[in-house]
Formats: sequence, structure tokens, C-alpha cells
Amino acid sequence: MNHFEYINNELYCENVPIAKIAEKVGTPFYLYSHATLKRHFSVFKDAFKKIDSLVCYSAKANTNLAVLKIFEQAGSGLDIVSGGELFRGLKAGFSPDRIVYSGVGKRADEIDYALKTGILMFNVESLEELELINQRAEALNLKAPVAIRVNPDVDPKTHPYISTGLKKNKFGIDVNSALEGYKYAVEKKHINLIGIDCHIGSQLTEVRPFADALENVKKLIYKLKDIGIAITHLDIGGGLGITYDDEVPPQPVEYADAVISSINGLDVKLVLEPGRVLVGNAGILIAKVLYRKRNDLKEFVITDAGMNDLLRPSIYKAFHAVEPVIRKGTEKITADIVGPICETGDFLATDCHIEDVRGGDLLAVMSAGAYGFTMSSNYCSRVRIAEVMVKDAEFQVVNQRQTYEDLVKGESIPAFI
Ligand code: LLP
Repeated sequence: MNHFEYINNELYCENVPIAKIAEKVGTPFYLYSHATLKRHFSVFKDAFKKIDSLVCYSAKANTNLAVLKIFEQAGSGLDIVSGGELFRGLKAGFSPDRIVYSGVGKRADEIDYALKTGILMFNVESLEELELINQRAEALNLKAPVAIRVNPDVDPKTHPYISTGLKKNKFGIDVNSALEGYKYAVEKKHINLIGIDCHIGSQLTEVRPFADALENVKKLIYKLKDIGIAITHLDIGGGLGITYDDEVPPQPVEYADAVISSINGLDVKLVLEPGRVLVGNAGILIAKVLYRKRNDLKEFVITDAGMNDLLRPSIYKAFHAVEPVIRKGTEKITADIVGPICETGDFLATDCHIEDVRGGDLLAVMSAGAYGFTMSSNYCSRVRIAEVMVKDAEFQVVNQRQTYEDLVKGESIPAFI
């Protein structure tokens, strides 16, 4: 069931008319549906219920504490990539033994923080990182649980900026040298080598690349077994795509069935790191039309949300449908929906077929729950916008819109100038 629906030509989130929220909160704002978040998690988790598995929601897609709390309550673990995400995860109540830590550039202080917290495992991406984790664990008199992230060299057939499992990408250790990496790691006194990890990219719309990657990983697991290294955790990352436009990604259950049959025979706990599939279509961005203008070539709809609020269209040319919050039934126009920022790349949509919206009308930018707010910035000294959550007929601001004072918080003018 879709929780963003028109009732009498007015867009609702669950049982709340969105225009009512805009009136109270102002625009722009991100809007999340509690019921959708819960449903997405349970559909994903249930797809893997046949096997020993742990779903670790990938925080980077949406780190709002209220969103994290919903997943924590539903039994999720957490995939983090920074000390900041660990801090948020702990604040939201995640148990440390359900937290996995990925990323090519973990700093010593972040490693210490995670070691002291007692996380489930570090997904290690280089031998130098392994060395540092071993040293830090020794200094703290601990053993660090580690999985090695291998780069399985498969093409995920997604946008090049979000493909991560090819040799030319910076991620993981290539599958051919990984065996050496394991032999090296197993000798380290303060490393507890428990797993293997891979993540090949994001917004995948086919299961095939996942299965191909798993084939390569599986071969490595068998080789490791042969030399007496027993892996207990297999982390296959995230990456399952969603429908933004007309993509038809596999349903979680199809994805799960392909994964489960690929790992058949392996005695491991499966760890998954889904991000976008859980939150992407559970959130939208609401903006207001400020002005209209046209030239010989183009029609522009200028809104109060820009690339600093939602970066995806600008940097990936990502498609997000834009709809009027109130449908008036006017004839459609073809327009670029642009923001107030001084860059040509500042658009939410290009050549968008939309009703003849006018100044003051509200727009909904769809499928904006993943990598929306988390990638937003203060560029052009624009305040970060509010985040709102709806549950049934209730709504609450779950992150206040910043103020101008927030913009300069922490800045100072030295006496020497
Ligand atoms: N695990 C690791 C190690 C990752 O790097 C990522 C995403 C995930 C899990 C979650 O992937 P998902 O299930 O969300 O596809 N900013 C881009 C997406 C970047 C994804 C980065 N890594 C976008 O807006 O499309």
C-alpha cells in the first residue's frame, strides 16, 4: 500500500493532508511516513527469515534519529561509515553487537570509538587499515572483530558514481589478493577474523550482479576453509534499487531468493546492509513554487528548495518525479523545476510535465527519503530544512529547520585580523 496518496486531488501522507503540514511547518521540508518505513523493513526482513541473517540498515541513506529508532524497534542492526553515524546509532538505541562499520577511510579516533563501543565487526578495506585496527586494539587491550571487504570485480550496471565493486573503484581488496590478506590478518594478535564482506554498488535493478559477486566470494570462502580459516559472517552489503521512474527492480523476496540460493551450503550468518530500499520511497520533499518565468526556449518553475536540499538530480542527473500537492486539473506544461542557487546545475527536474503550477503552489518531489537530507548542505548559507514524520493522523517535526544563528554557530573572528 502506498502511503503518499491523493484523496480528492489533494496529496496525503498517511492520514494527514500535506498542505496542512506545510501551513504549520513552512517550506521546504522532508516528510517521512512511519507506516511505510515499518512496512519496508518488515518486508525486507521477512524475505530472509528462512536463514540466519541480520539486517543492518545502512544509516547513510537517512540518519534522522526518528527513522533510526523505527528500524531499531523493528529489530534492525546498523551499518555505519563514520564516528558520527556510530554516535547517532547509539543515541537511537542500537545494540553495539548489531553494528557493522564499513568505509575505506576510518580514522584512529573512530576506530577507538568503535572498539570501545564493542561493535559486531569492522569491514576492513585495506591491509594498512587492518594494521591500524590491530594496533589500536592492542593499545586498548581488546580484540577487534573483523571482516575483510573484497572487491568481487563485477559490474553492477548502475550509475558510475555509485558503482563500487569494480577493480577501478577504490573499495575493498581485490578478490585475487584477498587470500593473502586473510593469511596476513589471521596472524594478527588483536584481530578476530570473523567475516567476509562485499558491496558492489547502489540502485541495482537486477539480481544478476549480486549473484555473480556472491559466486566470486563463495570461491574465496572455500579457499579460506582449505587453509583453515573459518568465516562465520558473510556481509553482502546493500544496493537493492527502487522505482524512481519506470525501473522495475527485483522485489526483496526475489533478491532474497537469489542470495539464499547463491549461498546455499555455506555455514555463515548473512549480514545485509540495505539503505535506499528501506527509506527511498518512504520520504518526499515538499517545496513551494516561488516564481514562474520563460524564455524562447524554456519554461522555468522556481522553487524554494534547491540543490543544497536535494543534491541527487544535480550530481547524478537522478530522476525524481515532481507532483503538485493540490491537483487543479489544469493543462500540463513542460518546465525545468529549479532552485534558488547560483548554479546551472541547481535543478530538481528537467523537462518535467506538470500541471500549470503558480507562485504559492506546493510541490512534492517524490522518492526523496534516501540520500536526500543526508546529502544536503548549507551551500549559499541556506539553512538545513526541517524533517517531519507522519504516523497515521499525527505528525511531528523530527528535525527543526535551522536558524541563521545555527549557520554561524562555532565560527569566530580572530582578534588578529
Ligand atoms: N553498504 C555500503 C558499504 C555502502 O557503501 C552503501 C551505500 C550501502 C551499504 C547502502 O546501499 P543502498 O542499499 O542504499 O544502495 N548517494 C548515492 C548513493 C551512494 C551509496 C553509497 N553506499 C545516491 O544518492 O544515489
